[in-house]
Amino acid sequence: MGCCSHFNFLFLCFLLILSNIISTSIAKKSSSSHPPIKTLVLPVTKVHYYPGPDQYVIKIKQRTPLLPIKLTIDLGLDNPFMHCDQAYVSSTYKPINCSSPVCSYANYPFEYCSNCPNGGVLNTPGCHDNTCQAYSINNISGRPGSGELFQDIVSVKSINGRSVSVPNFLFICSHTGSLLKLANDVQGMAAFGVSNISFPYQFTAAFGLEKKFAICLSPSEKSNGVIFFGNGPYVLQPGIDVSMSLTYTSLITNYFVKEYYLLLKAIKINGKFVPSDKWQYKLTFDYDKGGNGGTKIGTLLPYTVMESDIFSSVVDEFVKALGKNIPRVANVAPFDVCFNSTGIARSRLGPAVPTIELVFQNKAVWKIFGANSMVQAAKDVMCLAFVSKKEGFWSTAAIEIGGYLLEDNLIQFDLDNNRVGFSSSLLSKQTSCSNFKYTNHA
Ligand SMILES: *[C@@H]1O[C@H](CO)[C@@H](O)[C@H](O)[C@H]1NC(C)=O
Ligand SMILES: *[C@@H]1O[C@H](CO)[C@@H](O)[C@H](O)[C@H]1NC(C)=O
Ligand SMILES: *[C@@H]1O[C@H](CO)[C@@H](O)[C@H](O)[C@H]1NC(C)=O
Ligand SMILES: *[C@@H]1O[C@H](CO)[C@@H](O)[C@H](O)[C@H]1NC(C)=O
Repeated sequence: MGCCSHFNFLFLCFLLILSNIISTSIAKKSSSSHPPIKTLVLPVTKVHYYPGPDQYVIKIKQRTPLLPIKLTIDLGLDNPFMHCDQAYVSSTYKPINCSSPVCSYANYPFEYCSNCPNGGVLNTPGCHDNTCQAYSINNISGRPGSGELFQDIVSVKSINGRSVSVPNFLFICSHTGSLLKLANDVQGMAAFGVSNISFPYQFTAAFGLEKKFAICLSPSEKSNGVIFFGNGPYVLQPGIDVSMSLTYTSLITNYFVKEYYLLLKAIKINGKFVPSDKWQYKLTFDYDKGGNGGTKIGTLLPYTVMESDIFSSVVDEFVKALGKNIPRVANVAPFDVCFNSTGIARSRLGPAVPTIELVFQNKAVWKIFGANSMVQAAKDVMCLAFVSKKEGFWSTAAIEIGGYLLEDNLIQFDLDNNRVGFSSSLLSKQTSCSNFKYTNHA
């Protein structure tokens, strides 16, 4: 206090304090004149749903006033839908007029038009005359998610933790039946697939970001994974930019089913090629045969499904590589190959089992360790997290990569350059998908 004991010194102190206040408020101002947004972030949580498979659920804020909304993600779905009816309250809900260019853009190359159906209350959400109709589907239950196309405000966070909003984000207003088999409190599906109004297209267009998204799913229901829109760096604790460890292969769009496919060339187990002469041809996605074959990637199925002949070749080599000391035991549903796990050691990368490598076009290799290839299905019983395609399965792909294989891996879809990047297990890079933190909490 020595400096302020005299009056003139007191005045000097006052000036010093004042200039301090002014300079900090200037600093605050300049940081709030925001730098351009480069990357958006959505937290994603695994949710158990009985009796169906686990779902990966995101949370956004939507409407005026803003309300938190949960949506199940579907990597393969084209158009996002949300249940809405008279309980949907928002002063910014706006149905899309049939004559709006947005209608044909969303439904490219068609335009669908409809009036409020009989029995509906005119001019309530989902029920307007002369509005654009769009189509979608809940592929967990097979129920349609179609209805009136509308826009409303959506708020999400940018990578530094700041909330940013899109005033005209489009959804289909769907019937309550569209929610069948979705997890508790989920109000629709977030579509990431091939469409002009899927999440990646809408979010990247709204902020002029590069048309890319990356998905990093956490295996735990207690910790969030993360989805990024836009370019890296994607930094996970303790300061690792996982966008630097991506290996790229071509992304093929299957326009028959409007879904993402990859070109798998071979499978290796512990470095050795799995013999493939009997089924090699199935790995090529065939435009001429209605889009059959090939390898697709999605989040609705938990375990990677393979045509039975591909599956049995993989199992033969896997069992050989695992060795005689690990006996097979009776299968636990839904798995097709299970082992007594008492003799299987544990490692940082999960159960210590033979490494499975998926070798894609451009020699891009996705290395799969125990954390993604084995499931503890019962006490002392561990099963291979790949299953054989069952009769009646609707997919036309020869292999369908499911959610369990994606966990604690970063997968980037670079839509402008038609390529997919994958990191292989982040556990081998001393991080995991639950390690994202906003760079500063605004
Ligand atoms: C969704 O279901 C439709 C119709 O059954 C099917 O054609 C399509 O391939 C499915 N897509 C996904 C992503 O499951
Ligand atoms: C939709 O377009 C029609 C003509 O195409 C017009 O009469 C109508 O007022 C428009 N409705 C809205 C809500 O903009
Ligand atoms: C998006 O719309 C444009 C026309 O505006 C069309 O050329 C393009 O094929 C559409 N994309 C998809 C994925 O439907
Ligand atoms: C697994 O092996 C252990 C040790 O040999 C044995 O005690 C146990 O009963 C086996 N469990 C199963 C499910 O086969």
